[in-house]
Amino acid sequence: MKVKPEFAHWPYFAPDELAAVERVLRSGKVNNQPVILCNFEGELRAFLNVCSHRFSRIRRDGPGNGPLQCQYHGWTYNIEGLPTGITNFPYFEDFKPERRCELSLEPWKIETCGKLIFVHRGQPNQSLREHLGEAWEVMLSMAEALGENVSSTRMIIKANWKVVLENTLESYHVRFVHPETFARLEAKTQEFRYASSNSSWYAAIKPSIGDGLAKLGKVLKLSYAPAGYFHQFVFPALTLATTYGLSFSLQTIEPLDVGTTAFTTRVYMADIPEPSAVKQNQLRNLASMASDFNSQVFEEDKTICEEVQLGSAHANPMRSGELSSEEQRVLAFQQAYAAHMRPSGSA
Ligand code: FES
Ligand SMILES: [Fe+2]
Repeated sequence: MKVKPEFAHWPYFAPDELAAVERVLRSGKVNNQPVILCNFEGELRAFLNVCSHRFSRIRRDGPGNGPLQCQYHGWTYNIEGLPTGITNFPYFEDFKPERRCELSLEPWKIETCGKLIFVHRGQPNQSLREHLGEAWEVMLSMAEALGENVSSTRMIIKANWKVVLENTLESYHVRFVHPETFARLEAKTQEFRYASSNSSWYAAIKPSIGDGLAKLGKVLKLSYAPAGYFHQFVFPALTLATTYGLSFSLQTIEPLDVGTTAFTTRVYMADIPEPSAVKQNQLRNLASMASDFNSQVFEEDKTICEEVQLGSAHANPMRSGELSSEEQRVLAFQQAYAAHMRPSGSA
């Protein structure tokens, strides 16, 4: 199963790096396709991370710091993706000026939502704002409230990406899969919202845990502070969640092949208007605790998703399972996915 390329969102968060001069910020993968993100004196550009000379990846995956230069023979590219620095150029005989244009890198589209940067391969058929629909405002509030990145973890799960995604969209499994972790928050409210193909879940959490966190949020004057746990899904494979706006976790779910998924989670502390060393430390500690908590929860999710994959392989394809009202967001995702994969022109 493939996700159509126009939905290949890749969130990247780099507020401190954007003021820097010309350099590569990061290379990575979106839907298993290599992409490179660059900052040319404040102007962001993204390209397929494949050199036009003899098709090496220009850079290895990871953070970057340097010119947009290929690691193999040193071709250097400019803001337009044109190879302006060709090593030992006189040895390229009969190199016509128009050849430089033909050898330009494949540009990817970039869009931003607050501090989050998204890339798309090719022209998407709608803007990021249109794609988010009514979820735009809340995504913007959250994306603007993101502070320092406290942790990033990439986990390989032996399950189809939709199994992993659907698991993040329901809390029905919490009691059985997370009895010692997530279940302790007692986040049970069924408050769902739908915006185009996206959905969210808000839940109040146990007062003995939540009340203190809500008070702290007020003291810190957080710009975005929901009264509990809030989880936003952005179709097809991104989630952003927060507890009282004190810390945030951003997840991307990336299909590697039909039965393997890369699950990446990044935890951020909240950005606050009047930072002091004491407040920053408080937030950093909370975000680190959230990060440890998430690691346990996601390990538990990984195990059950792999069990679902093993079971699904033997299920009768003519049978369709059953969904409860606690799993409404799973149904909404399945409908959105079916609509997305329908050949254009069909009803
Ligand atoms: S393959 Fe990139 S410079 Fe040769
Ligand atoms: Fe879970």
